[in-house]
This record gives sequence, structure tokens and C-alpha cells, in this order.
Amino acid sequence: MAAEPVIGAAIAHDSARLHVSGRATYTDDIVEPQDILHLAVGMSERAHARVRSMDLSAVRAAPGVVAVVTAEDIVGENNCGAVVADDPILAPGLVEYAGQAMFVIAASSIRAARRAARLAIIDYEDLEPVLDIRDAVRRGSFVMPSKTIVRGDSRAAIGAARHRLAGSVALGGQDHFYLEGQVAMALPREDGGMFVYSSTQHPGEVQELVARALGRTSKDVVVECRRMGGAFGGKESQAALIACIAAVVANHTGRSCKLRLDRDDDMKMTGKRHDFVIDYEVGFDDDGLIRGIEFTFASRCGMSTDLSGAINDRAMFHCDNAYFLENVTIVSHRCKTNTVSNTAFRGFGGPQGMFAIESVIDEIARYLGIDPLDVRYRNFYQVGERDTTQYGQMVEDNVLHDMIDDLAGSSSYRERVAEIRAFNAKGGTLRRGIACTPVKFGISFTATHLNQAGALVHVYKDGSVQLNHGGTEMGQGLYTKVAQVVAAEFGIDIGRVRITAADTSKVPNASATAASSGSDINGKAAQAAARRIRNRLAAFAADRYGVPEDAVRFENDEIIAGTERLPFGELVHAAWLARVSLSATGFYRTPKISYDRETMSGRPFFYFAYGAAVSEVIIDTLTGESRITRVDILHDCGESLNPAIDLGQVEGGFVQGAGWLTSEELWWNDAGELGTHAPSTYKIPTSSDLPVDFRVRLLASSPNREETIYRSKAVGEPPLMLGLSVFFAIRDAIAGSGSVAALDAPATPESILRALGAGDD
Ligand code: MTE
Ligand code: HPA
Ligand code: MOS
Repeated sequence: MAAEPVIGAAIAHDSARLHVSGRATYTDDIVEPQDILHLAVGMSERAHARVRSMDLSAVRAAPGVVAVVTAEDIVGENNCGAVVADDPILAPGLVEYAGQAMFVIAASSIRAARRAARLAIIDYEDLEPVLDIRDAVRRGSFVMPSKTIVRGDSRAAIGAARHRLAGSVALGGQDHFYLEGQVAMALPREDGGMFVYSSTQHPGEVQELVARALGRTSKDVVVECRRMGGAFGGKESQAALIACIAAVVANHTGRSCKLRLDRDDDMKMTGKRHDFVIDYEVGFDDDGLIRGIEFTFASRCGMSTDLSGAINDRAMFHCDNAYFLENVTIVSHRCKTNTVSNTAFRGFGGPQGMFAIESVIDEIARYLGIDPLDVRYRNFYQVGERDTTQYGQMVEDNVLHDMIDDLAGSSSYRERVAEIRAFNAKGGTLRRGIACTPVKFGISFTATHLNQAGALVHVYKDGSVQLNHGGTEMGQGLYTKVAQVVAAEFGIDIGRVRITAADTSKVPNASATAASSGSDINGKAAQAAARRIRNRLAAFAADRYGVPEDAVRFENDEIIAGTERLPFGELVHAAWLARVSLSATGFYRTPKISYDRETMSGRPFFYFAYGAAVSEVIIDTLTGESRITRVDILHDCGESLNPAIDLGQVEGGFVQGAGWLTSEELWWNDAGELGTHAPSTYKIPTSSDLPVDFRVRLLASSPNREETIYRSKAVGEPPLMLGLSVFFAIRDAIAGSGSVAALDAPATPESILRALGAGDD
């Protein structure tokens, strides 16, 4: 009986049963050592201040407290910033945001530690904070120099165009709201070693930063992560703060330490998606063709650099989205503010860049009185001409025209536009709106050197397999996909493959699992490792059965060598007896990419992933409430490794994007304190916010033109940007009531009412 092919099979997530039955072990579920101490963090109450004195005597004397640790107690480097060393683990006398970690309490219970934290008496000398993006730009408060991309002559092109528009739009940030908050447990090992369980997308970086904080080197530290309960970029760089705190206190006390942030503290202490202010000026023709465009982006980076360089670069790389911008100038300011340091979040600046161009397209359409989809078509990248991005990469794999035609047809876009116009013309308090938006998203880390991965595969003599690679599992199904690749390589049932936790002592120097590249690069690395073992097995079988090596096949849990058929386990056992090595490492580096960081030109991306969405909404013009009534999505996963998992990524990404642009509002008061630091005030979508009618398809028969793992495409981040269609459908509904006012994101009821108010009689 032929087994189902494992590649392209809709196999359930390897931990699905464990997830739903509550048996999946997250970092906080790992059995605690007997000597465990629980940590709580004393956080700054001021956005910007010098600390004149910290009286921690009452904290130290509180019941259950074993130790209190401050910056002075850090024996190594007081830094957890990976790119630039400007992120103190514990504030060294200067606080730069409300919520910044200042001291740590180690106590016999979490409650005791948290209670004691409140007893600190701190004397602050307040300094003037920078809390606003525009204010930061005015004052020249930046975490790094501004950058510019120029192609053609945007000034002249705008000047010569038939029509011109200029405007500004504000775009909010987003909290990751991973279900599992930030957490780490550090266990001192003999002779200065440290073992750290960390909920992190980047175990290797945590290892390095922990080592430096302890005044040691990477060889002394092991970091392990079996899974995260969601990360979404929030644990790419910033898990290091939590792990460093746990390790520093473990080192200081000689006891195991665990830090699991309470949700409110997590939201105050760790960074979010960058909010942006976007200024634009555009010149265009009667049919909406953009002749020249200028963008000025200013983003809130917060108090330190973190990943803001690459994030803002990616915004600049994605403000074309699917459109050819012939004459374009993009200026990007990276603002330093006295707020938490913002960080990676699904899309990594790409969504902000795409929001900018989609806003402009929408404005052009409203101004000209033509359907926004027609303006989009007019500006799409073409094939063979008008096909080079503003950073000089050719768009070689453009499938958007066909996708949009397909989706517009299957969703009856045109008919529904007409029907919605008729509905809105009737008046009343409800208005409907619809929008079709495309996504083109560049796949690869823009920092070229990060596009590498390693794997380690062991075959045991009973024919079972252990798989390890540098990638981390955050719910996205990476481990399942890579296991499929290894099972396919050996022609065995996936049940023979045991997936093991990311572990810096098995695969060194791994990049973060990020940039959606997890399965692309770890899949290839694991395939390379498995292939080495398979080649040894094939050579052994060829020799034994007197057939050429390339005549040995691995399928259906068997190996076939000429007329011989042998169960996989038997062959492996025989190979072991013959002293064949059954363990191998594998390595992969993404080919073809290279780009000049200074001029921001070249080929930063191996390829592009595409998608398109049509969303329909209804708004209540009295209350400003909105509902998503129907969504049609067509998304390009190349030849999907696992359509069940990919479908989940598309649905989840879309909903997360829609949440960002509708209900998820971050609000700080005038003192720079985050007011929205709990689910009571920060509103992520719930199951009842799902589109009433939700139709998601993966693009069929569309192998990646590049030689990726089984011609699949990365899927983690791109679908988030499908959520833009919801925002522009709301914009359309507002226009349906006659208002032309700009709509700031997120389109909360307040924001919608503001936009409607400007259009009132
Ligand atoms: N899906 C789930 N369920 N949980 C997550 O935390 N993170 C997203 C995406 N999908 C995330 C997710 C982000 S930000 C990225 S970069 C990718 O998954 C990372 O995984 P991949 O590269 O294996 O796709
Ligand atoms: N995406 C995500 N994470 C990253 C990137 C990127 O392009 N570059 C560095 N870290
Ligand atoms: Mo994803 S924002 O690249 O972790």
C-alpha cells in the first residue's frame, strides 16, 4: 500500500493534541528545581529621570525576600541590546521610559517578590521626556541617522503631473499579546555554567547576551526552548531582557531563578510594533497613474535602537507594495522617544510601508472618483517593463495580476461595489464598504548574513529519528514542516521522527526564527543533514546488494535496492552493525541575495510572497462601530508544504492585521505612562470579531520560481498585511456617507466618528 506523500499533506501541528489538552510544556510549566527563586522587577515610574537615590531597605526586609539585585550587581556587561549596546538590563541611574527595569527581587514566591517591589523609595530628578514622534523629529531626537532612497526625480515628476495631493496619516502601533507572556528560568551549573530555559525566537542571541552579562563566553551558557505560546516578533530580541535578568540573579544568588512577567508588566516593559507618522506628496494622471511620489516616514523607536534599523529599512522596502513607483523619494526618521523600545512585529515594518502607499492610492481614487481597485491595477508592477523596485531588485515572480483577477471574480467584487453603492445611497445610519488590497512581501532577512541555518539529525539503530535545527516553534508549525521534510528524505512515516527543542548546544549560531524564513532555511538545512545520512545508507545498501547507489530508493518506510526490499529500521540496524555513521549536521545559506546597506540597493530578497484580500464591512455612523461581514482571500504559498498549517497562518495573520488596524489602540498619558496595559483596555480581536463569512484559498499550482524547499513559499508574516483591506473597506464605508476626511489607524469607533464628523452637514 503506497503511503500518502508527506510533502504537501495537511498534517496536523505536531503539538495540536498537547495544545488542546493542556499537556504541552511551555517554559512556565517546566518542573521547577527545589532551590527556585521567583523574581519580580521594580520598574521606573518616570519616562525620563535621573535616579538620585534608591532606598531598597524595606524591599530587602520584606517577608520572603532572599536578594535584591541592581545594576551594580551585574558582573559582566549591563546590556541586552543585540545590535547596539544601548539597552541596559537594569537602569544604571538614568531611566528612559516608564516601565524600565531598575532592580530585581528574588523571593520564595512570586507574590512575595511582587509585594516587595512596591516598597522601594526612589528619588527621581525628572528630565524632560520626548513622548511624541513629531516632537522627536523637531528636536532631532533619533536612535540612528535618517535614511533616504531616491529613484528618478520625484520633485520634477510631481510638478509636471496633472494632479497633486499632499497629506499626513497617523498609524498606531500594536502589542504582541502572545498568550504566553515573556518568561525565562535560569539554572546555575557547575563551574560558572548557566542553563537557561527561555521563551525566545532567538536562543543563540539569548545565549550570547547572557554570557556577556555574566562576564563569560557563549560556551558557558546553554539556552533551550521547546515552544513559545506565541511570539509574533515580540520575542525576537526582547526575550533577552527577561533571560538576562533571570541569569544575572541566578548567578548572583547561586540558585535557580524564574522570571515570568505578569501581563501588565509585560505590556509596560517590552516593546511593540512601531507607530508611524507618514507625510506624502504625490503627482498623478487622470487615470490614477502615479508619476512621482515622496514619503517622509517617522517612526517611534522608543528609548533604544533594538531592531529599529532593519524594521525601518523594511518599511522603506515595502512602501511600493505592489506598485511601480517610477520617481520616488523616501525619507525615514528613526525617532528616539522616552517610551519602551519598539521591536519586531509580524511584517517587521513592511505593514507600515504598505499602509503608506495604500493610503495614497485610496486618496487618489477618492479624489478622482474612480474605484480604488482600478487605481491599483493602473500602478501594478508589470512583467517585462516597469518591473524594478525602488531599491533595484527586479520583480521576477509577479503573479498579482492573475491573482487579483481571480479573486475579484470569485468574490464578485464589481457586482458588490455596485450593490454597496446603491445601499449607501439609501441613507440611514448604517454604511457599507468594500476594498480589495494586494500584498507583495519580500522574503529574506534584510541583514543578509542572517540568512543561514543549521540542523542536526540523528538516526538511531531502531530506525527512529531525532531532529534538531536552529528554528524555534511559536505556534506557526515550523517543527511539523521540517519534520515532513526529513520524513520525506528518508521515505519514512513522520511518526518515526521526534522533533526536539531548540538548543544552542546542538545547533550553534542560529539566526532568530523570523522574517518568515523559518521553514525555508531550516527545512533546507535539515534536508541537507538527512540527505548526508541517506547517502551513506544508500552507499551501504548498494554495496550490500550489488546495485548502483542511485538505484537505491527510500519510500513507504522501506528501502528498495534492485529486487531487495527491506524495512527502513532493518537497513539502519545493518548499517550500524557495519559501522556507518548515522548522525549528521546540515547547513544552508540562502543563495542569490546581496545588497548594499549604505545605498539600500541590490537584491535584499530571495523572492516575494503574494496575496490579496477583499473585505466588506458595515459601520454604524452613530456609534462608530464596525463589523467585518465578508472576507475573501487568495494567498500564494508556492507549493505549500502543509496546506492545513498554511491556511491557519493566513487566517491568523489576517485577523491579527485587522486587529492592528481596527480595535488595538495603544494609549500613553502625558507623563509617558502606558494606559492600555491589560486586556480590559487593549482590545485584540475575539472569536466574535471574525468575519461572518470568511473564505480563504491558497493559490493552486504556483511553485516558487526559486529553488526553495519543495518550491514552497514563506507564509508567516505576509498574510498580516491582508488586514489592510479591512481598514480600506472602513474608509470606503466612511466615504459612502460623504466624508472625505482622513482616517487615522487604528479605525476605532472614535477614529471612525472623527472621520465621519468632518463630513457632517
Ligand atoms: N504564528 C503563530 N501561531 N505564532 C507566532 O508567534 N509569528 C509570526 C509568524 N506566524 C507567529 C506566527 C512571525 S512574526 C514570523 S516571522 C513567523 O511566524 C516565524 O516563523 P516562520 O519563519 O517559521 O514562518
Ligand atoms: N525580518 C525579521 N527580523 C529581522 C530582520 C528582518 O528582515 N532583519 C533582522 N532581524
Ligand atoms: Mo517576525 S516579526 O520576523 O519575528
